Amino acid sequence: MLAPRWRAMLAAVVSIVLFTAASLGKPLVIQYALDHGVADRDKGALVFAGVLFFGLICVIYAFQALATYTVNRIGQDFLRELRVRLFTHYQRMSLSFFERENAGRLVSRMTADIQALTDVLNNGFLMLIQSSLTLAGAVIILLFLNWKLFLFTALILPPLLFATAIFRTASERAYSSVRERIADVLIHMQETFAGLRVVQAFVREQHNMERFGAINERNFEANVKAVRISAIYFPFVEWLGGLGIAIILYFGGRQVAGEEVSIGTVAAFVFYLEFIFQPIQNLSQVYDMAQSAGAALNKIFALLGLRPEVREPEKPAVLPGPVRGRIAVEGLEFGYIPGRPVLRDIDVVIEPGEHIVLVGPTGAGKSTLAKMMTRFYDPTAGRVTLDGIDLRAIAGADLRAQVTMVPQEGFLFSGTIRENILFGRPGATDDELRAACRDLGVDGFITALPEGYDTYVSFRGSRLSAGQKQLVSIARAFVADPPVLVLDEATSSLDPATEGMVEAALRRLLAGRTSIVIAHRLSTAEHADRVLVIDDGRVVESGPHAALLARGGYYTALYRQWTRGREPGHGGPLRTSPEPA
Ligand SMILES: Nc1ncnc2c1ncn2[C@@H]1O[C@H](COP(=O)(O)OP(=O)(O)OP(=O)(O)O)[C@@H](O)[C@H]1O
Ligand SMILES: [Mg+2]
Repeated sequence: MLAPRWRAMLAAVVSIVLFTAASLGKPLVIQYALDHGVADRDKGALVFAGVLFFGLICVIYAFQALATYTVNRIGQDFLRELRVRLFTHYQRMSLSFFERENAGRLVSRMTADIQALTDVLNNGFLMLIQSSLTLAGAVIILLFLNWKLFLFTALILPPLLFATAIFRTASERAYSSVRERIADVLIHMQETFAGLRVVQAFVREQHNMERFGAINERNFEANVKAVRISAIYFPFVEWLGGLGIAIILYFGGRQVAGEEVSIGTVAAFVFYLEFIFQPIQNLSQVYDMAQSAGAALNKIFALLGLRPEVREPEKPAVLPGPVRGRIAVEGLEFGYIPGRPVLRDIDVVIEPGEHIVLVGPTGAGKSTLAKMMTRFYDPTAGRVTLDGIDLRAIAGADLRAQVTMVPQEGFLFSGTIRENILFGRPGATDDELRAACRDLGVDGFITALPEGYDTYVSFRGSRLSAGQKQLVSIARAFVADPPVLVLDEATSSLDPATEGMVEAALRRLLAGRTSIVIAHRLSTAEHADRVLVIDDGRVVESGPHAALLARGGYYTALYRQWTRGREPGHGGPLRTSPEPA
């Protein structure tokens, strides 16, 4: 990814070399001014030194600015591309990936890990080149100026290197525990906010406060430990620097007295000391940065290397314009975990325009079967076909245009209601939108909102009720107008007014399409062409509502229990297993 940016990188390196070399020249000019200008009282030499010094600082200014800009720009450019790659990759991954991976961790790949890379790209790269050059340059210059004095001065380097190495290890450990503690605090806060209603309903504030207090305390301790390490190290380095100056003054001064060294040289030594101290500290920091960036890169590229489980076909089958909408499930078997099938021996043919309702106890596999028909997963055995074509041979985009899934909870993205409805067909005009909504019977509810179609909803849709969200997501599917619809009925009970509206909208939505509806209220099943009763991953009964009721089997038991749950005095256990018939 960096290769195409080689020109900018070359410019950055050249700028860094130039401004570092100019920096290294500064003490030499001071030495010249002191030895020739001041000591010899030579005005011309002083002016020359002044002009030279001015030239140097201008060069430093210009190239430091250029280097900082170029390096950061390359870094940001790289990160921008990486973020797009990650995001695109996430979107292409199968549903199974998101059910397995923790969303927080995926976001952290995009934020924390990218931040680690940002550090190394922006500061690390610049620091690495600048510090190595400065260190090497300063040592060479000092050796040339006076190698004896340099050897004396070098006495302070072993303790500096030693202290820096210890500090780096200790502080890295301390800061990684600080980072973990901060994450704990954040996770706890997030959980509390997300579950605030539950927290308040169960009067758990006190308990939560105590838990938060304990987490916060650990965060405090981790920070104090990190501070203690820094408090010892940085003043120690300062102290060592002072010691270095003392050594230079003492040994240098004696040599000046013995006329072996000039005053300018001693002054230059004092200046160069900083040119040795700073790079050593910087380099150890770069080493750390590179390590965490390496770890981040590993994680990011491991993620980018994952292939989606539901793959695009190599040569997609060509679908006829709108398909007829015949769905056939043949000898299907599927399990989320290998060896633990959730669905077994399913053979179902759904004719074009047929209205199918799936019923069954919770955990029976209804949603799973729906995910197979929409190819969110591929079967372990058998196949699902649309108009005789295996779903695995159909390009993802083509399939989604023909088969739309309306999930259990109406999901809204942050944006206006209009944007949310047009999600499935962004090209539709305003008139088409209004006409569709009027057709569905949802126009009234939307225009009654304060800003009508422009009402802004957050991504959880918190300003709308469950039923209203469901209406918007039904409208979204209606506008997209697919020949086949798979619908997971909302489980949350709606208030009677909205429920009536949702049912009417659904009837309009399903008319004239092949539809597979997962029903949680058996009243939905009464209107079906055919009811499939699913239990423990198998289709145990199939037929129209009336025929199944007359049979007195599993469905009858389920239905009887459901109607009893609807009577006053019953809590309405709509989704439990039926009693044995
Ligand atoms: N992502 C998943 N990973 C592993 N197991 C899963 C996953 N999703 C569902 N299951 C399991 O598969 C079985 C069928 O689940 P499914 O969601 O299809 O049931 P359902 O009939 O839709 O139930 P409900 O009426 O509660 O919606 C359950 O035992 C469930 O625990
Ligand atoms: Mg379900």
